[in-house]
Amino acid sequence: MSIQGNKLALVTGAAQGIGFTISERLVDVGYSVAMLDINPSVMESAKLLASKGADAKGYVLDLSNLNSIRSLQALIGVSFKDLSVLVNNAGISPKHQGKKRQFIDIPLDEWQRVIDINLTANFLITQICLSPMMNNQHGRVINITSQAARTRTPIPGAHYAASKAGIAGYTRILAGEVAQYGITVNCIAPGRIESKMTAEVGDSVNAELAKSIPIGRLGKPQDVAAVVEFLVSDSASYLTGVTIDVNGGNFMA
Ligand SMILES: NC(=O)c1ccc[n+]([C@@H]2O[C@H](COP(=O)([O-])OP(=O)(O)OC[C@H]3O[C@@H](n4cnc5c(N)ncnc54)[C@H](O)[C@@H]3O)[C@@H](O)[C@H]2O)c1
Repeated sequence: MSIQGNKLALVTGAAQGIGFTISERLVDVGYSVAMLDINPSVMESAKLLASKGADAKGYVLDLSNLNSIRSLQALIGVSFKDLSVLVNNAGISPKHQGKKRQFIDIPLDEWQRVIDINLTANFLITQICLSPMMNNQHGRVINITSQAARTRTPIPGAHYAASKAGIAGYTRILAGEVAQYGITVNCIAPGRIESKMTAEVGDSVNAELAKSIPIGRLGKPQDVAAVVEFLVSDSASYLTGVTIDVNGGNFMA
């Protein structure tokens, strides 16, 4: 695969799970990767990739602190000008003893925290990252949303669904605005993917859910990373403003 434009990719929520696997895949196809997370273990995750020869660096940033997001460019430094791929992957889905809160029980602070991290931080980071992409006349913004943005699912709360649907909404508007700069903006909507987030509900719940998935298993982070690889490739240059479902057939629009 040839790499278009410059070579830096930024992945949020990259310490573990889907974000780590996406970072690994972007390194495999030749990108330098800036891995950002609230969890300081992101430094170890980046070192793990670097130990295999990758140009991967970790950055600790709490996306719930909306003001600190403005320091992103300074944090990454001079290579920020080479940014050509942004994967907005960080997200939270609050559970209490493994269960979501019902809509009627969600306190305002929990609602606000989910909207801040999943939606507003995503908006702010994207705004900042568009600048080098516009200068370079090339960019790929990939937003990790969720099946929950498009249909009822039993596990996540209403705030999570609202935040993910919000991202999908702005994606379509932004895609129309920045296509003239060679920038595409797309969503990947995973169904149930194996990760720490998914494990919170317990093995028996996940095993039961897997039975209702036509492909007969939960997804793996690699199933999502493969679509990221496609979206950053030359082959996807005519795709913008779309959502690609990665759910084993669990939801078909
Ligand atoms: N696993 C699934 O089944 C599934 C399904 C649909 C969508 N998704 C989405 O995929 C993305 C990745 O999920 P995952 O399953 O790998 O979850 P995960 O919990 O394993 O990883 C999420 C990462 O985001 C980071 N993060 C959380 N809050 C942050 C903050 N305030 N600032 C910076 N980083 C923060 C976490 O530290 C973690 O490394 C999320 O956006 C999630 O909503 C996951």
